[in-house]
Amino acid sequence: MKRIAIFASGTGTNAENIIRYFKDLKSTDFEISLVVSNRSAAPVLQRAEALGIPTLVFTKESWRKGEDVLNAMHNYKIDFIVLAGFLALVPTALIEAYPDRIVNIHPALLPKYGGKGMYGDRVHEAVIANREKESGITIHYINQNFDEGQPIVQYKCPVLDTDTAATLAQRVHALEYQHYPEVIERIANAIN
Ligand code: GRF
Repeated sequence: MKRIAIFASGTGTNAENIIRYFKDLKSTDFEISLVVSNRSAAPVLQRAEALGIPTLVFTKESWRKGEDVLNAMHNYKIDFIVLAGFLALVPTALIEAYPDRIVNIHPALLPKYGGKGMYGDRVHEAVIANREKESGITIHYINQNFDEGQPIVQYKCPVLDTDTAATLAQRVHALEYQHYPEVIERIANAIN
C-alpha cells in the first residue's frame, strides 16, 4: 500500500480530481491519506474533508523549519507526495527525506514560464503575450528551486489567437485532470 499526501494552497480542483481517481480505482495499492496546506482558508481543505480525507495546515514558520511537516509525514506513514497548486517552498528536510518521491504539476511547458511568482493566470497571460502557438502541462520531480526539478512528462495543447488567460487556463486544466492522476499512479507504483 502506497500512502500519498497532497499539498495544495488554493482551490484544489486537481486535488479533488486525484482523490476521486484513487477512490474510483478501488485499489488496495494506493490511498490518498492526507491533504496538507499552508493556508487555513484554502478551499481545498473543505473539498478534502467532504471526501473523508484528513487535512493538516501548517504555519509559515513550520514550513520554513520543516520539522513539523516531516513529523506529520512520518506519523501518517506517507510514501509519496503530490503537489497540486502548492505555492510555498517544500522544506529541504522533506526533499531530502523523499528523493524522487515528490512531484509537481506546472500549467505550462517548462523550462519556459516557470519560477517564483509564475502561477495561475500570470502563466497563461505570459504565454499569450509572447504569442506562443502551444502550451500545456509539465509534471516534474521537485528540487530546491521553484519549477526546476527533473521533468517527468509534458502534454501539449494549442494556444488560439482568440485565447484569453481564462480560456487557455480551461484547456490546460483539462489536460491536468486527464493526465495527472495516471502519472501519479505510475510513478508511485514504481517506488519500492
Ligand atoms: C493548476 O493549474 C496547477 O497546474 C498549478 O496550480 C493550479 C492549481 O489549480 N500548479 P487547482 O487548485 O487544482 O484548481
